Amino acid sequence: MIITICSTKGGVGKTTLTASLGAILADFGRRVLLVDADPQPTLSSFFSLAHQAEYGLVEFLVQTESSGFISRTEIERLDLIYSNDPEGQLRDWIRDAVDGRVRLKHLLNRLDYDVILVDTQGAVGPLQDAAVAAADLLLTPIPPKFFPPVNSSGAPSTCSNV
Ligand SMILES: Nc1ncnc2c1ncn2[C@@H]1O[C@H](COP(=O)(O)OP(=O)(O)OP(=O)(O)O)[C@@H](O)[C@H]1O
Ligand SMILES: [Mg+2]
Repeated sequence: MIITICSTKGGVGKTTLTASLGAILADFGRRVLLVDADPQPTLSSFFSLAHQAEYGLVEFLVQTESSGFISRTEIERLDLIYSNDPEGQLRDWIRDAVDGRVRLKHLLNRLDYDVILVDTQGAVGPLQDAAVAAADLLLTPIPPKFFPPVNSSGAPSTCSNV
């Protein structure tokens, strides 16, 4: 199963959710692959690596390398394709390639994992489109927000009269 964690908003907890879910599922005995599809590679450095692969997401997607792109974290059964696209060039490549938005799905479906978790950047764009198209399931974290109480006239109360 491929699960993409996405939101058009930044800083809502996507990477934390991706990493936590990955570690928990691996702990439960699932073989899990984390895919860092954010040019700011927070997920790539979330866990210490037992083995750092030669290639990352760019080679996996653009050159369709058949090996050498799976890094292993120090957590058993938890692997990673790290992000190596600091300039965000994958966005343009995906936009301009004929199969740009579906290639990630086809390539990930070839891999033998119980669960693949794709972390994305909090924005819209071709790389996010590709990650959404690849997914069997989408997860969107929504941070809790406290709304001000409403007064008798139906207007929100100010802090002073709460
Ligand atoms: N459930 C949570 N409770 C409290 N803090 C959280 C929770 N999830 C994430 N955070 C904190 O919120 C901040 C943003 O989290 P995170 O980096 O996971 O968000 P993000 O959506 O991946 O951000 P970005 O869009 O920049 O990639 C971090 O400091 C993280 O520790
Ligand atoms: Mg993030």
